[in-house]
Amino acid sequence: MIIIKAADYQDMSRKAANIIFSQVIQKPDSVLGLATGSTMLGLYEDLVSHYREGDLDFSQIRSVNLDEYIGLSADNDQSYHYYMKHNLFKHVNIAAENTYLPRGGVANPDDECLRYDNLINQLGGIDIQLLGLGLDGHIGFNEPDDKFTAETHRVKLDESTIKANARFFENENQVPKEALTLGIGAIMKARKVLLCVNGKNKAKILKKVLYGPITPKVPGSILQLHPYLTVVADEDALSEI
Ligand code: F6R
Repeated sequence: MIIIKAADYQDMSRKAANIIFSQVIQKPDSVLGLATGSTMLGLYEDLVSHYREGDLDFSQIRSVNLDEYIGLSADNDQSYHYYMKHNLFKHVNIAAENTYLPRGGVANPDDECLRYDNLINQLGGIDIQLLGLGLDGHIGFNEPDDKFTAETHRVKLDESTIKANARFFENENQVPKEALTLGIGAIMKARKVLLCVNGKNKAKILKKVLYGPITPKVPGSILQLHPYLTVVADEDALSEI
């Protein structure tokens, strides 16, 4: 595990964007595992700047996102499809048909889980998986549980996750209660993992994730077993370590 210390959010975003930047330069047809949430906004802004400066080319890149809310269609402005389109995809030269997210609006979410795992296998797996960290230790929407789930699956969101994500909605009641998420299997099979964490409110959970017991009660703790984990975190998030 490599831990890269950043001064603040902006510095974390820049350092993490540089890692994705070098991945795309070194392997222009990479499969990027992407994430949403506030942690990633600065990083995507930096990637867009690199693209505008002519230093990045996404024409051969394929992307697979971690998760999507059940019940929200791609055009819903609270969906992760919408987030990705507006924060990254529409600003760079990635082909729409090369961007994949689990489809939360489908009639049969269980079939969608199977389709998504097959799709990732067909793409040859994920070259680099970008991850944020939930306050309860979730990665993707793999919430604390009695076991790790390998496959893409349907998940009930924890109260703490619903509360944390309510800031993106008009009120807490509007936050969907379920999501589809990539499982721990595909995340752990990614050739590289890049975990980005910022803020004092994540300091305690980050310490548990990196140095506590490996347990499905703290889903991110499984990353301790990943052979190529890079953590980019700001001083606040690292303050307990
Ligand atoms: C998002 C995702 C989540 C977030 C996590 C942190 O696609 O999978 O695991 O990374 O909830 O969210 P923020 O960055 O909003 O604190």
